[in-house]
Amino acid sequence: MAPETPGRETQETLSNLLRETRRFAPPADLAAAANVTADAYDEAANDRLGFWERAADRLSWGQRWETTLEWNPPFAKWFLGGTLNVAYNCVDRHVEAGRGDKVAYYWEGEPDGDSRTLTYSDLLREVGKAANALTELGVGKGDRVAIYMPMIPELPIAMLACARIGAIHSVVFGGFSASALSGRIQDADAKLVITADGGYRRGAPSALKPTVDEAVALCPGIEHVLVVRRTGEDVQVTDKDVWWHDVVERQSERHEVVQHDAEDPLYILYTSGTTGKPKGILHTTGGYLTQVAWTHHAVFDLKPESDVYWCTADIGWVTGHSYIVYGPLANGATSVIYEGTPDTPHKGRFWEIVQKYGVTILYTAPTAIRTFMKWGDDIPAKYDMATLRVLGSVGEPINPEAYVWYREHIGGNRSPVVDTWWQTETGAIMISPLPGVTSAKPGAAMRPLPGVIADVVDDQAKSVPDGGGGFLVIREPWPSMLRGIWGDDKRYTDTYWSRFDGMYFAGDGAKRDQDGDLWLLGRVDDVMLVSGHNISTTEVESALVSHPKVAEAAVVGATDPITGQAIVAFVILRGSAEEGADIAKELRGHVSTALGPIAKPRQILVVPELPKTRSGKIMRRLLRDVAENRSIGDVTTLADSSVMSLISEKLPSASSED
Ligand code: WT7
Repeated sequence: MAPETPGRETQETLSNLLRETRRFAPPADLAAAANVTADAYDEAANDRLGFWERAADRLSWGQRWETTLEWNPPFAKWFLGGTLNVAYNCVDRHVEAGRGDKVAYYWEGEPDGDSRTLTYSDLLREVGKAANALTELGVGKGDRVAIYMPMIPELPIAMLACARIGAIHSVVFGGFSASALSGRIQDADAKLVITADGGYRRGAPSALKPTVDEAVALCPGIEHVLVVRRTGEDVQVTDKDVWWHDVVERQSERHEVVQHDAEDPLYILYTSGTTGKPKGILHTTGGYLTQVAWTHHAVFDLKPESDVYWCTADIGWVTGHSYIVYGPLANGATSVIYEGTPDTPHKGRFWEIVQKYGVTILYTAPTAIRTFMKWGDDIPAKYDMATLRVLGSVGEPINPEAYVWYREHIGGNRSPVVDTWWQTETGAIMISPLPGVTSAKPGAAMRPLPGVIADVVDDQAKSVPDGGGGFLVIREPWPSMLRGIWGDDKRYTDTYWSRFDGMYFAGDGAKRDQDGDLWLLGRVDDVMLVSGHNISTTEVESALVSHPKVAEAAVVGATDPITGQAIVAFVILRGSAEEGADIAKELRGHVSTALGPIAKPRQILVVPELPKTRSGKIMRRLLRDVAENRSIGDVTTLADSSVMSLISEKLPSASSED
């Protein structure tokens, strides 16, 4: 430990190293016509619950609520006494309002030319049939339904059918293994699985059904498996299997709407967390739909009449739940859904889709943006993307360089970028610029949205002053907050509500700059302690990515006899950059100049790939194993498990110290 500095009362919680002075004001035309203006902040500050009531009034309610919020920390109930049907709000009401011919989804399959268009009327018929089929299969209100599907239209249809009858869906990402699937089925005690024979990925059919068979063999509670035929490949048929085209297609298209309580469960979504078994995050109906619909309207400035909106996430993640299915449909949006990967059949696929459908709003992840940067500026330059007007980012801190590249090469320097911070647990966006209001800074999520009370606190739970760093917390309940962990109230309380009394602890580090704007700094588990300074991985990674030769970077703290921990950086070079002998020295010097000598990496390892989860987050835990010469830990959640051996091979030759 460094000796106590005289006169200094609290130890810094998180160093504030990065200086970023660029600003991007909202385009004048967007600001003039924006759905939400700066007044929203004042309205919410004056009357927070009133603000959320007005947001809830954007929905159609069977019975309007009596009590807006009941808060018995840490358990919140919103819009008590209110009833609504989520599927009615997402589908029927648009048809009833005469917008049945409006496109809900442009679906683009991965194989060339494979596409489908679903209007709101089409969706109404499909959801009605699917809801009737679920009833015939014995699924009722409150029952759990596991959904394990590729990115095909039947996936949102299945979710909406569950919502319509009040069954609780648990979507499991289609890339997960049989054991991950069976664990989730068992934890939720689901009685039905909805799946498909397979989907298309990377130019070939990718089977799902054999994985389901293996999982269901371990799940006696499963009564039926409802299978969509997508690829047409041979599948083994078990006695629990029923085909979607048999059971769903013959149903009546009419399904009477029933109202559900605002606090009835809508879905469970498992999130892995850093340790232990996955947590079944529970979301309910009225508050969730209120906040996803309002944030989608506000943060993307969605104009349902003219926008074509595309969120590139998989529906198996919360981003897809909230911003492909529930938010956009509640707002009557026209969205694009794409089945496949961004490099199939070529690396311009995303931009080809933007051009084909005239996409106006694009929502994607920093990991994808950095990949596109690596592939080269010339690829997006070949496409006409003049329709784009708002760009979003989610999933990780976005490095300033990636932000600026996205703005310039995808957004033509005219589209604002909204960096949206939120979590599976928060259900909806919490911290983000508003595109018609905020002069945004590259790399900053800026301010809590109106109606959200977020703060950065030190380890004593005291707000840090402007210019300080610490832990991100939420001080007041919000409508789309998780209502608990399925079957485990104690874990819910312990995980989120026990670190700081009366506050939700998100697990992320953050800083508040001199202007009071928020910057997310990654998970606090990843923070490095170097010579008594807590340094965030994000800032050092961003400094590395700002070097013209670096495409991607991940840094970790490794035990060091002198400094406690020392920074070890793993970098992927840009396509054109040579791995010269001096690269390590050059990059160390660059970080030192950008952030100060304290942040200078001890070692730089040039690697071909980085270990990422299937949702694109870097798994720094595995890199720490490499940096500390340990055998590598559990790799089962890696998207590509061969990556770690590629990295380990690089280890002896690439290290450098001076
Ligand atoms: C964690 C939540 C939210 C949907 C996708 C991820 C990180 C997310 C940002 C952002 C910095 C971000 C945080 C958060 N994160 N968005 N804009 N800036 N970090 O959902 O899998 O539940 O992950 O993702 O660390 O806690 P999730």
